Amino acid sequence: MNLQELARQTAQAFQQAYGRDPQWIAAAPGRVNLIGEHTDYNDGFVFPMAIERYTVVAAAPNHSDQIQLRSAQGDQPATLDLSRPLAPFPKGNWANYPAGVVAGFLTRGLKPGGLDVMIHSTGPLGGGLTRSAALDVATATLLELATGKTLDPVEKALLCQKAEHDYAGMPCGIMDQFISALGKESHLLLLDCRTRQTELVPMSDPSVAVLIINTNVKHELTGSEYPTRRKQCEAAAKALGVPSLRDASPELLEQHQAKLDPVVYRRARHVIGEIERTTHAAAGVRAGNWPTVGQLMYASHRALKDDYEVSCKELDDVVDIAGAIGVAGGVYGCRMTGGGFGGCCVALVKAAAVDAISKRIATEYQQRTGIEPTIFVSRPGQGATVLKG
Ligand code: GLA
Repeated sequence: MNLQELARQTAQAFQQAYGRDPQWIAAAPGRVNLIGEHTDYNDGFVFPMAIERYTVVAAAPNHSDQIQLRSAQGDQPATLDLSRPLAPFPKGNWANYPAGVVAGFLTRGLKPGGLDVMIHSTGPLGGGLTRSAALDVATATLLELATGKTLDPVEKALLCQKAEHDYAGMPCGIMDQFISALGKESHLLLLDCRTRQTELVPMSDPSVAVLIINTNVKHELTGSEYPTRRKQCEAAAKALGVPSLRDASPELLEQHQAKLDPVVYRRARHVIGEIERTTHAAAGVRAGNWPTVGQLMYASHRALKDDYEVSCKELDDVVDIAGAIGVAGGVYGCRMTGGGFGGCCVALVKAAAVDAISKRIATEYQQRTGIEPTIFVSRPGQGATVLKG
């Protein structure tokens, strides 16, 4: 479903729920990360692109002190009472994302007033393509319209990240909210998570395509494993005597290996290597050197699997199948993308071979796992947009 159609459906759902048209409509995309995994909270580089999968938020003032949150996908409606201090809903409630973003606006003295809100998305929650970040950023874009105040995009991304931390209980890095707010059509975004400097790297070679393979599994380890990884990285940086792993080199790590816990050592080895792989991959994309980018993607996957231990059998199966197809069959590279423990793989492939590759991955993955994957191509999409303002 394209964005215009999704927006039309959202407006229609709004009209059905509230009996009038929305005054504002805003949208923000999900993302896929080409490379640079678990580097954002280590002050490193990430290299994602926005995908053509969006969350749309439509709203109109309701002249009350309540924000009514409804979803066109039938999630439990929720109400934010603006007459008292906001607090998170119980963990797992979808409304925590918009609630956290509203709280961020209120903290800055920006008052949206009472609103009727309708939310709609392409794609399922929990698919690893950060529907939650898209929901945060779409909500923030809508609240910019409702408050009449446009935030600096970096501040907007940070506000959304804080919403995830404080309301959704997810101590995420900055990548997902950043790309959803700042993505640009036909470009990947190289983001330095330390300085927050960005470079839009053109990705418009028609002979290559980005294929996204959703394993359609989500192992519920994510909740506890993600904060554990963050702590292990902090422990490694401390032992190496650097502010963050961004400041460590492979040589420094080797010098200190003996005094590091072996698990912490391996975690650091992934992060230090991945930061380097990411800048190399960006150079590869700039030069159109797809085989090199592909090799870096495989190397990233191996490190995430063996050193960082955030992969799972299903993700490994996809990468294995893609590797067997090889460059001769049109696959330059493939890796897990996102936090891990399920979700999606990303593959860089020859555009002419997309159909054959998709079929082969789908068939062999299903043979191995008994699960049907969801496979699609996305061009680099546009970051947050106002559709009616
Ligand atoms: C999740 C987080 C991101 C990032 C990735 C791993 O998607 O939200 O901030 O840390 O995991 O690269």
